[in-house]
Order: sequence, then C-alpha cells, then structure tokens
Amino acid sequence: MTKRILSGMQPTSHLHLGNYLGALKNWVGLQDEGECLYMVADLHAITMPYDQDTLKQATREIAAAYIAAGVDPDKASLFVQSSVAEHSQLMWLLATMSQMGKLERMTQFKDKAGKDAERAGLGLFSYPVLMAADVLLYQATDVPVGDDQKQHLELARDIASTFNHRYDTEFFTLPEPMIKGGATRVMSLRDGTQKMSKSAESDMSRINLTDDADLIVKKFKKAKTDPHPVPDSIDNMNERPEAKNLITIYAALADRSAEQVIAEFGGKGFGDFKKALAELSIATLAPITERMNALLANPAEIDAILEKGNARAREIAGPVLKDAMKIMGFWQK
Ligand code: ADP
Ligand code: TRP
Repeated sequence: MTKRILSGMQPTSHLHLGNYLGALKNWVGLQDEGECLYMVADLHAITMPYDQDTLKQATREIAAAYIAAGVDPDKASLFVQSSVAEHSQLMWLLATMSQMGKLERMTQFKDKAGKDAERAGLGLFSYPVLMAADVLLYQATDVPVGDDQKQHLELARDIASTFNHRYDTEFFTLPEPMIKGGATRVMSLRDGTQKMSKSAESDMSRINLTDDADLIVKKFKKAKTDPHPVPDSIDNMNERPEAKNLITIYAALADRSAEQVIAEFGGKGFGDFKKALAELSIATLAPITERMNALLANPAEIDAILEKGNARAREIAGPVLKDAMKIMGFWQK
C-alpha cells in the first residue's frame, strides 16, 4: 500500500522552533515517501479567541512557512481545512461515536480550558473529533506531528476502530502517528519543564521563525540554565532539563546525536555553547524567513497554490465522506 501522509498546523500566530523541529522538518523529508497533504488547520484555530481581521493573512503565512521550510507544492498538496466542507461534515458523524469521558481526558483540552472548564466552548472540547475527521477523511496512513499530538491521534485511531466495529467494516484506515527526530518535544527557553508554545506569554520562551539574528542571539543568551558547565554525559544531561533542551535543539539543528554534541561541548561553559547554538539557529532559520517574506510579497501565488491543493483535497475527501455515509445507512445517490 502506498503511504498517504497528512498533517496540519493552526494559523494561530508565528511558527516557532518547536513546530519546525517537531513537525515541519519531518514533513519536508517525507515528500518522496507517498502522497503528502499538508493543511492549514484554520477551523481548529477558532476554538480559542482569535482575530477575524488577521485569520486570512495568518493562513497565508503558515502556507508560506511550509513552502519556505522546503515543502514543494509540486509534490505535496497544500490546502485550507475550511475550504473543504467535508471536514465539518465527517466531524459530525464521528461525534456520534466519540465518548465524552475520553475527550475529558485530553491533556490539551485541560490545559487550554484552564480552571474554568465549565465555560470552555464545545469547539475546544470536540477539537480532537475534528482532528480525527481531518485524518480519516483522507484515509491517511501516517501523520507526522510533535509528541504533544500523540494523544489526539490515539483517539483518532480509537474513533476509526469504533466506526469499523459498529458498522462491521474495515472502511477507515487506522492512522499511525509519526513522531520522529531528536526534538519531538522542544521545551521553553524559560522553563525546561514546559513545552515551547505559541501561546506561552513570554516571547523570550520561544524562537519564532520570524525572529531576526539579534533577537535569536539575545533569547539564547538569556535562556535559563543551571550554574554548572555543559553536561559531559547523557546521564548528567538527563538530570538537567534546561541543559538537555539546549543540547537537544543543537543536535536536531545540526543533524547530530546528543552524544556528539556532548563530546564537543561537554564540560565547557554555557556562554560559548549558547553562542554556537544561536549561530546554528540563525543559519537554519534566516533563509527560511527570507523565503517566507518573498512569498508573502506575492499573496496571489500562495492563493493559487492553496486553490490547487484544495481541489486535490476535495477530490479525495468527497468520495470518502459519501462512502462513510452509505455505510452508515444514509440516503445517498
Ligand atoms: P502550538 O502548540 O505551538 O500552538 P500547534 O498546535 O499548531 O503549535 O502545533 C503544530 C505542530 O507542531 C504539531 O505537530 C505539534 O505537535 C508540533 N509542536 C508544537 N509545539 C512543539 C514543541 N514544543 N516541540 C515539538 N513539536 C511541537
Ligand atoms: N491539532 C494539531 C496541533 O495543534 C493540528 C492539527 C489539526 C493536525 N488537524 C490535524 C495535525 C490533523 C495532524 C493531523 O498541532
């Protein structure tokens, strides 16, 4: 069976190094392994307060980031979730076979709903059901994401199994999460126990794809570490979350192992290591930012790429939704 690879990111704000190392970098490497569909998850983005004046531009920005990072629109289909109506339609059908108890256990829901879960919206609560629809609608075999999305994908597999079992069929493909590379969970630069996130309050906690060289140097310089030198062994590194995070980032950017990074920097001061890390980040991110800005100067070109991707997405999604509805017993021609 040929692979069908699907993934997406929300157009909530600028992408950061965690998005790049945890997901986007892997997407680029998968383009020759099967049919790739990379989506801008705008329906997911409205589950939290958002600005309707910037959503359209944020959607183009994410698409530009995919291309700038190396996704080739001639190989992969880039599309916009809200432009393919079948996502919302399939979500409703899947909602009827999704258990509240399981949704209540989703850690992302608990984090985002905060203390006042009673007031959280139904959209935020049912977020993982929409995500299951995103994946199942394309019969995706593999879904490249960062570690934090693993629980959502397990639920998508669960919902697919429920459908197959309830209707005594093998219709839906069970998607495999693809969580690859050394940096599947990049942590905040201010707190080694929190993941680097778009929604964290302090901008100093993350490296954005749009940060300039001076800001990247400053953020790494100020990154929290402990008073000891760079760890000189994996065991020592594993006891020190902030040091581990910086070594993990360096290794992922340089395509080296943590052992190799330790062999070079172990026992030395953090000053030099942070300088080298900033240089490496700038060398990776600056060309991406530059390409992104060039693409954004021509929004019509991005729109044309997305239109082409939307057409391909609809071509796959339409028949899958129709077949699922037939299996469920709906009147369908
Ligand atoms: P965020 O969590 O910053 O709002 P998204 O939810 O849009 O970002 O995530 C887009 C992709 O980036 C997902 O595949 C997610 O798993 C991955 N990702 C997000 N944050 C990190 C991180 N800190 N480390 C590794 N991967 C991450
Ligand atoms: N929930 C994902 C995130 O926050 C984004 C997403 C939406 C996604 N639909 C998807 C990822 C389908 C993979 C497949 O990162």
